[in-house]
Amino acid sequence: MSTDQHDALLARYGAAALPPAGPWNDVIAALMQHRSVRAYRSDPLPEGTLETLVAAAQSAATSSNMQTWSVVAVTDPARKAVFAEVANNQRHITQCPLFLVWLADLSRNARLAEAEGATLEALPYFETFLVAALDAALAAQNATVAAESLGLSTVYIGALRNDVRRVAAELALPPGVVGMFGLCVGYADPEARAEVKPRLPQNTILHREQYDAGAEPGARGLYDAALAEFSARNEMKAYRWTDRVMARLGRVSALHGRDGLKAALRDLGFPLK
Ligand SMILES: Cc1cc2nc3c(=O)[nH]c(=O)nc-3n(C[C@H](O)[C@H](O)[C@H](O)COP(=O)(O)O)c2cc1C
Repeated sequence: MSTDQHDALLARYGAAALPPAGPWNDVIAALMQHRSVRAYRSDPLPEGTLETLVAAAQSAATSSNMQTWSVVAVTDPARKAVFAEVANNQRHITQCPLFLVWLADLSRNARLAEAEGATLEALPYFETFLVAALDAALAAQNATVAAESLGLSTVYIGALRNDVRRVAAELALPPGVVGMFGLCVGYADPEARAEVKPRLPQNTILHREQYDAGAEPGARGLYDAALAEFSARNEMKAYRWTDRVMARLGRVSALHGRDGLKAALRDLGFPLK
């Protein structure tokens, strides 16, 4: 195992859960360097960067090649401020020079059907919404990897779903389009610490032939300890992963309005049959 590979695996899993060495290359090395960044310089992105990120995004696989997603590029400070407010005042949204809103978009197919005088019977089904949401996520992740390969940093903003109606109004979305999440893109503030965040040991995620949760209790203990150390290093307040999960899912109020998402989606033109 090369030193780079060992260091990358060590940062991602810690010494106690180091997976065996396998094939390695620059693409994998770059993927393993991922970290979310929540502090940005205001410098604009080089010309053509947005279009390059979109080309990478459009190169992702897409269900039946339907391409049921779109993206809105936002740079207007006033509009970013609205999104920051929707997302519980996450200030990196106003700091970053480019904020991308990734959309599940069934409106293009609805327009296509209208132009062709056709009825799309499957369009109103939950399955079709899910296809669009998955397409948007795969596209966004390709853009994220591309951005990181260019020395840019990113952070996803799922909190945009706190109020999908307000996001839709702000972006003038037609029916059948919803903002799934945002993505801050920019140059990381060098003052801000952003370390690779460890992940669960592979024996809790990777199952062979059939699902087996046997290793989970021990692995969770290991991971709680690793994440407590990580958080103490990076956020000053140590927390166990177990506590974070319980805080995130323990009370409906932690959904910050997203408990009403199904009703909001129906308002926005997704019947979810
Ligand atoms: C769909 C999605 C939504 C997210 N929403 C937010 C968010 O609203 N605010 C935030 O600070 N981070 C958000 N994140 C970032 C996660 O917190 C982060 O990916 C996770 O803690 C792992 O850290 P890492 O990306 O640095 O490895 C989101 C990530 C994903 C994939």
